[in-house]
Amino acid sequence: MPRDRYPFELAPLPYAENALAPYISKITMNIHHDRLLRNYTDNLNKALAEYPRFQNSSLTELLQSPALLPKDARVPIMRNAGGVYNHIFFFDHLRPPVKENRPSGQLLEAIKAESGSFEEFQKEFKENAMKVFGSGYLWLVADEAGRLMLYPTANQNTPVTDGYCPVLAIDVWEHAYYLDYQNLRSEYIDAWWNIVNWDAAQKSYMACKKF
Ligand SMILES: [Fe+2]
Repeated sequence: MPRDRYPFELAPLPYAENALAPYISKITMNIHHDRLLRNYTDNLNKALAEYPRFQNSSLTELLQSPALLPKDARVPIMRNAGGVYNHIFFFDHLRPPVKENRPSGQLLEAIKAESGSFEEFQKEFKENAMKVFGSGYLWLVADEAGRLMLYPTANQNTPVTDGYCPVLAIDVWEHAYYLDYQNLRSEYIDAWWNIVNWDAAQKSYMACKKF
């Protein structure tokens, strides 16, 4: 279990770098995890190095209260804490390819309640993921009552800062797919459904409902 406070450590991938192939290649995962997440982790430690008062805050605590952060370091702390949080969440909600990959249980029921069917949900999710302008993420989040909604964020902003509880996320920065799909975000999203970890999403959803 990596430390959840300063000094942060690079969180390990919960599967091998080649485990998501052919949908996401080993080289993409290597760059995404070992270079980009490492950079965000190192830069978060650098941003916090001169602020001992915040070195005992967890990642979530830092992200939930930007107004409490030192004015001079607020931007680098938020940017890098978001980069760490978002990437760990994204990686932890993927798994090796599964045929007929679908949600089940209470999460599936909640998806049906909002969208009518899983297929309709996939259509809405893709449309919204395509609409994220530039770099960012599309999230499935829950409110306190367990109701689901789609929530786009730009750059490394995170729904945690806005008071929403994340259930699932797709990273639509080009670094997540360019080597495998060039600029074709649509093909990347179609492939991503094969490697969504619905068990992890179900766990996240149940944790959201405990709020
Ligand atoms: Fe990323």
